Amino acid sequence: MLTLGIETSCDETAVALVEDGCLKGEKLATQVDTHALFGGVVPEIASREHLRVLPRLYRDLLDETGTRSEDIDAVAVARGPGLLGSLLVGVSFAKGLCLATGASLVGVNHLWAHLLAPGLKEELRFPALGLLVSGGHTHTYLIKSPTEFELLGRTLDDAAGEAFDKVAKLLNFPYPGGRFIDDLSREADPDTTLFPRPYIDNPTLDFSFSGLKTAVANYVAAHPKLVFETMADTEAVAGLKGRRRADLATVCASFNWSVADTLRIKVERALKQAGPVESLIVAGGVAANSMVRETMKTVAGQNGLVLTLPDLALCTDNGAMIAYAGWRLATAGCEHGLDLEAIPRGRVVPLDWNPPRNWGKK
Ligand code: KG4
Ligand code: ZN
Repeated sequence: MLTLGIETSCDETAVALVEDGCLKGEKLATQVDTHALFGGVVPEIASREHLRVLPRLYRDLLDETGTRSEDIDAVAVARGPGLLGSLLVGVSFAKGLCLATGASLVGVNHLWAHLLAPGLKEELRFPALGLLVSGGHTHTYLIKSPTEFELLGRTLDDAAGEAFDKVAKLLNFPYPGGRFIDDLSREADPDTTLFPRPYIDNPTLDFSFSGLKTAVANYVAAHPKLVFETMADTEAVAGLKGRRRADLATVCASFNWSVADTLRIKVERALKQAGPVESLIVAGGVAANSMVRETMKTVAGQNGLVLTLPDLALCTDNGAMIAYAGWRLATAGCEHGLDLEAIPRGRVVPLDWNPPRNWGKK
């Protein structure tokens, strides 16, 4: 089965083709530089960029893989959660394509797609505990199969990636700043007394990162020399030397440790509540973070679990994860009608698939 994946939920426009679970080709256009000027994603600009870029990316993908639109069996599209205007660009494109070619439409939960993405490279083992740490979400799930996700814990305020980006903004790193904090963190040992591990002194599986962000803000306000005077670019970060660099690295490492260790505590707690699982799947942009990766390796090792961590390119938003998740859903008989709704952030993505149909009868 040839599945096209379309991703337009935030600031990456991406398409990919997956044939029977294997990646055939992909194209991605990031809007990061456009939004960096504003210090965050501007929804209206994001939608317009998707609209401008998506048809060209699709055409290039077909050309590069020698595919015709009529060859596509299923069109999988990220239908939420995300920015509504951006999602609508991808969803409308997908519907048009299905109308024109007769392909099946599969609306994909963007968060599930992050967690299923590593299946492109290795076999996923279920049941699994899933930790999704992205710019918009921090969720733990009990994943019983590719179509059965039970939400266990979620953030009550800022997502882990949002905390990285907000702390990075305080220090005047470019947006999105998570990877700059990660890079500098590697140069220092964390001071584990510097910042709190937020919202751990309670029995819940939920997260709350806004207090940690405030603690860093207070520290930075008391140590203004840590902050770049104008927004730093990669060269400015590389050019920072001596004591100032060492101090900044310690702050980054300490903040990074607070996030990683909070994730560890909540994942260990979730494992106790979830019952026996075979694997731990960690996904989303923050799964690219080196300290988070190391911490989760330790958690998996200590609990005798297979650790599934996507390659760095698969951590952040991409089309391959949507195509792959769409293929898993389609083969499980989950597809949608042309009334598929885009779901903005904050609303639960419904399980509103049509009754299964017989594959092969297009
Ligand atoms: O999953 P993603 O690409 O987009 C969403 O669906 O939100 O995640 C983007 C987030 C951003 O907050 C970014 O700063 C963060 O992932 N991120 C990182 C790293 N690489 C990306 N955070 C910490 N360390 C990294 N290496
Ligand atoms: Zn994402």
